[in-house]
Amino acid sequence: MTPWWQSAVIYQIYPRSFYDANGDGIGDLRGIIQKLDYLQRLGVDALWLNPVYPSPMRDFGYDVSDYCGIDPAFGDMADMQALITQAHKRGMKIVMDMVFNHTSHQHPWFKAALENDPHYRDFYIWREPKNTRHKTPNNWRSAFGGSAWRWHHKRQAFYLHSFLPAQPDLNWRNPEVEKAALQILDFWLAKGVNGFRFDVINLLFKDPTLRNNPLRFGGIGRPYEWQQHRHDRNQNETHLFLQRMRRHLDNRGDILSVGEIMYDKYETCATAASFCGQQDELHLTFNFELLHAKFSARALHLALQRWYDALGKNWPSITFSNHDFPRQISRTGRYKQAEKARLLAMLALSAKGTVVLYYGEEIGMQEEPVRKKEIQDPAGQFYWPIYKGRDGCRRPMCWDDSEYGGFSAQRSWLPVSPAAPKRNVLAQQMNPNSLWHFYRSLIALRKEYTCLQTGEITLHPVQHHVLYFTRSLGKQILHIMLNISPRPQSMPYLPNPRDACLLNSRPAAKSLPHELAPYQGVIYQQAQGSQD
Ligand code: GLC
Ligand code: CA
Repeated sequence: MTPWWQSAVIYQIYPRSFYDANGDGIGDLRGIIQKLDYLQRLGVDALWLNPVYPSPMRDFGYDVSDYCGIDPAFGDMADMQALITQAHKRGMKIVMDMVFNHTSHQHPWFKAALENDPHYRDFYIWREPKNTRHKTPNNWRSAFGGSAWRWHHKRQAFYLHSFLPAQPDLNWRNPEVEKAALQILDFWLAKGVNGFRFDVINLLFKDPTLRNNPLRFGGIGRPYEWQQHRHDRNQNETHLFLQRMRRHLDNRGDILSVGEIMYDKYETCATAASFCGQQDELHLTFNFELLHAKFSARALHLALQRWYDALGKNWPSITFSNHDFPRQISRTGRYKQAEKARLLAMLALSAKGTVVLYYGEEIGMQEEPVRKKEIQDPAGQFYWPIYKGRDGCRRPMCWDDSEYGGFSAQRSWLPVSPAAPKRNVLAQQMNPNSLWHFYRSLIALRKEYTCLQTGEITLHPVQHHVLYFTRSLGKQILHIMLNISPRPQSMPYLPNPRDACLLNSRPAAKSLPHELAPYQGVIYQQAQGSQD
């Protein structure tokens, strides 16, 4: 039997920004429940929620102070239980975000560690100073800026924080940490959740002797990227833990584990693929090459080819956006964005792999950075102006043209997109030619054609800027051709007169026979018995 997640379209919800049911400007669980019918209409199979646990919100939920609770800003456990039940009623699964690399500094474990509690004193990574407390234990840096070490007066020692000082890293070399983590998974499984997305999971174990990271000369971007993360990521023990966790989850049913693997632009998606192991670690990981790739047939072809090659027998995931990256449509350049958005949608929903969509992508929400004084993201506050942070992809979902975009009855935590009056769900639902309807038909097509879900993929060499691949399963063969260029191009596959055109991204575009209009994508079903 195929596991549920293999054929699934997963919809990522940033709960703060999806729908605010109680009118305090912050999205909440009741809000998601109210929008379940919407999600069902769109046709998605599962929801991944960014963290909703109690948190001081220094990193908007990625600083967890209780893994088995719900932050009051989002609701309470009864709301969460209702969300799970209501989603299941509609045939949708729930995937929780799990942050195991670090906790909040407000977590009871960290507080107990400060008190030198014998059970918790080694839950985090502490180092006593050698000679002076002004010299950090090594050169590791925090992804959010500065040294990864913070002096703690109470313990008279440094603790490690790969992200904010308010996010101390757990010490995975302590077996008690693993025990606690697996219990947390069981807690949520008992509530009925269907899977977990594991945050920065390749960071869990660190080099036991805390060796310095080698520097990367000529590094660009943030100082964090100026070193090779040889000793603070990708340790072999992480793979061994993932194998244990995989067994733990597989013993509990058809549960998805999908991991976020942090790797930088000098590496390829092979790093991400390696954490699926021999189908015995994570079920899925994310390929960030697809988010970094230039919007061109060659670049996307390369990122996909490398992904499938690196994965071997492991199953791919396909995603172009998330809560940490500029929104996909804005990465394609300004020209003909409406057409390009459709090509990306077609690619995501017809390539081989579990699809992960990011809320708002179905209406073409843009990257919209906020003004300096409105910045909420700690990374943006620290690095501004060299890096403006992640608020631009976290703005409230635009539901209609009312004040505050139909997201809330009052001013929201991040400003509503100025484009909301025009680009919103209601307007697009009323227009049969909208991007929203296009996403909906693609999802429906995937449901109808099993070969789009689990069929094999063949990527054909790129000619004249056309990304062309075939999906096949038994006798079902589909040809997908995407012209990623502003000029007409000839079709690399010449459809037989008996072939059916299942989907056309630009039905009104005029083109010659066997030609694709600029930025046009098509899906043909090869008639049985015909040859290409
Ligand atoms: C991951 C999350 C990101 C968060 C970071 C620290 O990269 O996706 O949003 O800030 O981990 O937890
Ligand atoms: Ca609210």
